[in-house]
Amino acid sequence: MSKVTRRPLVAGNWKMNLDHVEAIRLIQDVALRLRNTDHRSVDIAIHPPFTDLRSVEGIIGADELPIALGAQHCSAHASGAYTGEVSVAMLARLSVSLVLVGHSERRLYFGMSDEMVAATTAAVLKGLLTPVICVGETGEEREAGETESVLVRQITAALDGVAKGSESSIIVAYEPVWAIGTGLAATTEDAQVACHRIREEIRSLRGEAADGIRILYGGSANPENAGDLVAQADVDGLLVGGASLQGESFAAIINSVAACYGS
Ligand code: PGA
Repeated sequence: MSKVTRRPLVAGNWKMNLDHVEAIRLIQDVALRLRNTDHRSVDIAIHPPFTDLRSVEGIIGADELPIALGAQHCSAHASGAYTGEVSVAMLARLSVSLVLVGHSERRLYFGMSDEMVAATTAAVLKGLLTPVICVGETGEEREAGETESVLVRQITAALDGVAKGSESSIIVAYEPVWAIGTGLAATTEDAQVACHRIREEIRSLRGEAADGIRILYGGSANPENAGDLVAQADVDGLLVGGASLQGESFAAIINSVAACYGS
């Protein structure tokens, strides 16, 4: 399967930024900027904080925007005494279709283990939503030459949450931790090598399904580097943090990816 048959995805991870009023402003700004551009070749998603989802859902629905709604995290449990958590079913009721699973900030600051990533992935798939499984090495791991072993460990563990035959329902994001929020993106070559390695690992575990899985790059993606990154054979889109918080830069990234893929 060639790259062209994998539709690119540009997903904005807003992290803990923007209340629901600010969220409405940003989504409207993005929509306005995209109105007269041809981005049909690109899937677009945004992952606002939980408290914004209802408002953003309303705007996307009312204006029929071609933007998928995503969450940044969810519980692996269906319901019950899990204070502070949000279930997959609750997200589905808000028209959420994608959930980031195991973002490095969840792993680092909230103790999300590989096992929890697998359990959450399974819960998201059970709820018929799409998990965006995040993997990536820290700066220390990279310096110690452990990038490959970390990626293999994380992707192998996450696939424990994916039933055989469900591989086409997942998305993977390669996000080197040292590149997140630092302005220091991976080189296009490093991004390609890592995304290719992830795909090969999936292939070794699950066979040809690996060719259909979209693998995104994330970590200081911006309008200047977006086109070069997605031009790489195994980079099928971008997970964008900081640059997704401004309508101008997020729209520019989408347009740059669309230019690379054509219409
Ligand atoms: P960044 O964040 O684009 O601000 O580096 C990416 C991410 O954490 O998803």
